[in-house]
Amino acid sequence: MTAHSISGTTVDLEAHRRMVQPAAETSAPAAALNPVKTGRRGAHVQIDDLQHRYKGMSHNCLENINFQVESGQIIALVGRSGCGKSTLLHLIAGLMQPGAGGVYINGNRVKHTCPRWVVMFQAPSLFPWMTVAQNAALGLRFAGRTQDIPTRIPPLLSMVGLTAYADRNVQDLSGGQQQRVALARSLATEPDLLLLDEPFSALDAFTRRALQQDVRRIAKDLGLTVVLVTHDITEAAIMADRALIMAPDPGRIVKDTVLDPGADRHRDSPAFEAERARLAALFEATA
Ligand SMILES: Nc1ncnc2c1ncn2[C@@H]1O[C@H](COP(=O)(O)OP(=O)(O)OP(=O)(O)O)[C@@H](O)[C@H]1O
Ligand SMILES: [Mg+2]
Repeated sequence: MTAHSISGTTVDLEAHRRMVQPAAETSAPAAALNPVKTGRRGAHVQIDDLQHRYKGMSHNCLENINFQVESGQIIALVGRSGCGKSTLLHLIAGLMQPGAGGVYINGNRVKHTCPRWVVMFQAPSLFPWMTVAQNAALGLRFAGRTQDIPTRIPPLLSMVGLTAYADRNVQDLSGGQQQRVALARSLATEPDLLLLDEPFSALDAFTRRALQQDVRRIAKDLGLTVVLVTHDITEAAIMADRALIMAPDPGRIVKDTVLDPGADRHRDSPAFEAERARLAALFEATA
């Protein structure tokens, strides 16, 4: 595994290949990357009787986990701290193997990580000495697809609203802008599945709101399947088509509900507020 040191921090290049980050504030449509044009579809995910226990734990961290995510669907895994959300996401990503049961993506058992699915964590993990465009192109460079950089990176930067920043150093950007760079980097390799682990929790409320809406829009434009881990009910209601509520000890899914907060998913609309309140009540009753 190759590791580089940045400002005293060890950066794992393998991890960079796998990592994604969040999205945008204002941006152009995804026409140039439209799934109809590219012929791509989001991944189908199937979780069968998944069980997991960390070494030294007296009880299962996850037990009896069964669900499917349809191609192009956005689901939120919602639950209190420690209920196993990140563990489940890491198992889906192939970052570790379950004690029992299996994860299947497009019918194939997940045994390791793959560039077809990318994990977004809280931190953007960019290379600080590179420009926005260079950072966005890293995934393609790692994949040996440098010939695709001139055609893929400009429309991606447009999609995440960063065309004007293409030649700026990423250190000059705000936290939200840096996460958009990381999202562009992840989307460049045309993943089928985005796995998001509380990717907006380090951001201020305004940026967070913009990113929630933009990541949903971009995922829908590209037909991506998304699994979002969050403990924020409003975030789940804004972003997801469906929420799975988890409870702890052992971590398990206690509710699976389709979200319909109105066509525009606008926070101020009565339809959104009603759906957010319904999800909050379900959460309080079950989690
Ligand atoms: N590497 C590990 N080794 C041992 N136990 C772990 C490890 N990672 C997580 N755990 C334990 O597994 C349980 C689930 O952890 P996990 O990180 O999946 O929870 P989470 O729902 O993501 O929590 P949070 O919302 O705080 O991020 C917790 O009890 C945690 O202490
Ligand atoms: Mg977690």
